Amino acid sequence: MKKKLYIGGQWLEAKSYAELASPYSGEAIAEIPMAGPEETEQAIEAAYRARGEMAKLPAHRRAAILERLSRLLAERAEEAARIIATEAAKPIKTARAEVDRTIQTYKFAAEEAKRLSGEMIPLDAAPGGEGRIAYTVREPIGVVGAITPFNFPMNLVAHKVGPAIAAGNTIVLKPASQTPLSAFFLAELLEEAGLPAGALNVVTGSGSVIGDTIVKDDRVKGISFTGSPKVGIGIRNRAGLKRVSLELGSNSALIIDKGVNLSKIIPRCVVGSFSYQGQVCISLQRIYVHTEIYDAFVAGFTAAAEKLKIGDPLDEETDLSAMITPGDVGRALEWIEEAVGKGATLACGGTSSGRMLQPTVLLDVDRTARVSCEEAFAPIVLINRINHVDEGIELINDSRYGLHAGIYTDNIHTAMNAAERLHVGGVMINDIPTFRVDNMPYGGVKESGLGREGVKYAVEEMTELKTVMINRT
Ligand code: SIN
Repeated sequence: MKKKLYIGGQWLEAKSYAELASPYSGEAIAEIPMAGPEETEQAIEAAYRARGEMAKLPAHRRAAILERLSRLLAERAEEAARIIATEAAKPIKTARAEVDRTIQTYKFAAEEAKRLSGEMIPLDAAPGGEGRIAYTVREPIGVVGAITPFNFPMNLVAHKVGPAIAAGNTIVLKPASQTPLSAFFLAELLEEAGLPAGALNVVTGSGSVIGDTIVKDDRVKGISFTGSPKVGIGIRNRAGLKRVSLELGSNSALIIDKGVNLSKIIPRCVVGSFSYQGQVCISLQRIYVHTEIYDAFVAGFTAAAEKLKIGDPLDEETDLSAMITPGDVGRALEWIEEAVGKGATLACGGTSSGRMLQPTVLLDVDRTARVSCEEAFAPIVLINRINHVDEGIELINDSRYGLHAGIYTDNIHTAMNAAERLHVGGVMINDIPTFRVDNMPYGGVKESGLGREGVKYAVEEMTELKTVMINRT
């Protein structure tokens, strides 16, 4: 299957192609166009030319396109899930859940298109403002560069494309090299949904070549990036006056206080730690359990982790499949070995079979081990003992990251105290940090990023606030 670039409403051949291989089988699944600076420029120019038409498109038309997109995706949901499962090695049941969320995200975007509004400012509140009123409007910024990751190839694209269209912007989309097929599928659907030519452009190829071209180009007014802190910070440093939203990494953590119902919590924690092989920014990587219930939690959690089924992403029974690259398996094994070298106990997992890593549970992990202080992005979780919730809060905050954190406790005061003191973008009380629905603000502090997604909040990032003042004197 030879794919084409989508530029200016046309499907175009590239000068060179690369083979896309299944992360699970290693077999070729498609030939992907490798856009260079020239094709990327062409995509930017197409988006730049289309920006006037998009900005003039009335809200009801933008909403109608997004509603149609959501409907078309629902009609082809199973096909979409199979694309995700095949290119990302995401277990099919998890891929279906991603498609359901993507349908929701575009619905939220359709609603947001109609909700874009400003406010009336009482200027006479200031001396000198008498006889004047002002109101604000939100205007599209123009061309948005969207650079998306492999782990949610449909829904994290939707979190950039949906708000951009809702706001009346145009887009140059660079999907992750490992998962371009979902982005081409989206372009097909948006074409059918009636998006004006040039409003969405999809360029695939080398991240650094395309990313650099987008970051350097003055016609691009905003960049929305999800990926590693290193790349994100590099974009921020070179973006000049462009708007930049960054969703970066995390080593998300959870506190489990004494006195809670473990039989309810353990299955949630297993889902949080191992869904999509832990390749989720809010994957549960560190669990700090009160010493009174530590042994019971470890026993229950480990037994549940050992029952997970590893295999073909297209198999209905599969819970975990291949890591995105064989290199990630090697890196994860190295990190596990390092933790054990620093005194950790391996409770289960720690081995791989081919491209698949067993769900791995480590106990008593030193806070300097990379599985604790870096983002593992692998099916690895550590469980450490704490004597008090305060100790857990200190451990969670001792991180370069701050995306989500969770706390299970039966004590409202303990919960509210943690909510106040945890330095993260989102605190989940009585749930795992691996919680997200698509209308909530999503983003982090510290090296977890800048700005917020969650359609309404992304629309704010992608619009300019204009003030209009009327003098009635
Ligand atoms: C992410 O990995 O950043 C996204 C997580 C989600 O949307 O559930």
